[in-house]
Amino acid sequence: MKTLTVALERRSYEIHIGSGLLAGAGAAVRAVCPRAGRLFLVTDSHVAPLYARKLEESLTGAGFEVARHVIPAGESSKCAGQLSELWEQMMDVPLTRTDAVIALGGGVVGDLAGFAAATVLRGVDFIQIPTTLLAQVDSSVGGKVAVDLKAGKNLAGAFWQPKLVLMDTDTLATLPDSTFADGMAEVIKYGCIRDREFFDFLRARPSRAEIMAEIEPVLYTCCDIKRQVVESDERDTGERMLLNFGHTLGHAYELAGHYETWTHGQAVAAGMAAACRVGVTLGITPPEVPGQVEEALAALGLPTAIPCARDNYAAAVGRDKKGEGEDISLILLAELGRAIPHKMPKAALLELL
Ligand SMILES: NC(=O)c1ccc[n+]([C@@H]2O[C@H](COP(=O)([O-])OP(=O)(O)OC[C@H]3O[C@@H](n4cnc5c(N)ncnc54)[C@H](O)[C@@H]3O)[C@@H](O)[C@H]2O)c1
Ligand SMILES: [Zn+2]
Repeated sequence: MKTLTVALERRSYEIHIGSGLLAGAGAAVRAVCPRAGRLFLVTDSHVAPLYARKLEESLTGAGFEVARHVIPAGESSKCAGQLSELWEQMMDVPLTRTDAVIALGGGVVGDLAGFAAATVLRGVDFIQIPTTLLAQVDSSVGGKVAVDLKAGKNLAGAFWQPKLVLMDTDTLATLPDSTFADGMAEVIKYGCIRDREFFDFLRARPSRAEIMAEIEPVLYTCCDIKRQVVESDERDTGERMLLNFGHTLGHAYELAGHYETWTHGQAVAAGMAAACRVGVTLGITPPEVPGQVEEALAALGLPTAIPCARDNYAAAVGRDKKGEGEDISLILLAELGRAIPHKMPKAALLELL
């Protein structure tokens, strides 16, 4: 097992990464929640039959009473209706202020359960047990929790750091290939923005099997980069925006496909490739970089270009048709392994695209 500590003073917590960790979850949770009697376990309809029982056995073995709440799998569960359902169920248990909430699942479960934990009884302890690659390398670390509103994704939320993040690498075995590839888009992103050596390491392992053979160091490297960024910018006002590499243009592709044709990972992959090409045009990104990034993405079946209408680009960069040229900070690669924010007029960016 590998361990990382996210150092945020009183809100510091550990990330445990390894095989077979679900079976030892009881002791690990007991160590961070010494006074808790009850645990409210949130999971989804895909994950529950696979992993909930194993986790519950370990938790009850450590003396916890566990209440399980299963939400329907999918982004549509990350909503205010489910949140209020969780609050009511928590009071029925009843959960007290010394108890804790556990999220077992992907980013949907983590974001929803985390927001419920942040708000119920003005905040109770929260444990993340992420089971998708995306949740392990991204959403479970950093303390952002949220639900979607009709007006858009993640529009109601909070910062609520977990007490512990437990990543059992065995859970990744049951992911569909496309869900695994989605997570790999974010993995490759970390290499692009912060770590050239890691990028080369990934390029030398162009398949799921080869990545899984090295999954502990892969997760460790990604979480370590996110940890550094979060520590220096917990509230997302500065350096954390480098994590948005590929996401501004990715948002345009998500819009172009009405959030259905393209997954987030696919849209981010194409967004990173496009940002590399824009960077070359602007003389910021070295000309050989787009090909290298595209090759790494394509090896995992991720797209490197997505057809997109100008209106979608305009909406994604936050400029309606009549709006006059304010600036946007686009994240570009000054070289592989080093991202920089590049401020430019929105109109100029739209011209380039
Ligand atoms: N909080 C943050 O900082 C942050 C960062 C990035 C993304 N997010 C959010 O994360 C969400 C996306 O997360 P996601 O990609 O994990 O989606 P998800 O939670 O919907 O999981 C994807 C699918 O995989 C299934 N699944 C989960 N674990 C499985 C397993 N081990 N085996 C088989 N199937 C499994 C789920 O049931 C679901 O059908 C979005 O809502 C996004 O906004 C949050
Ligand atoms: Zn993302």
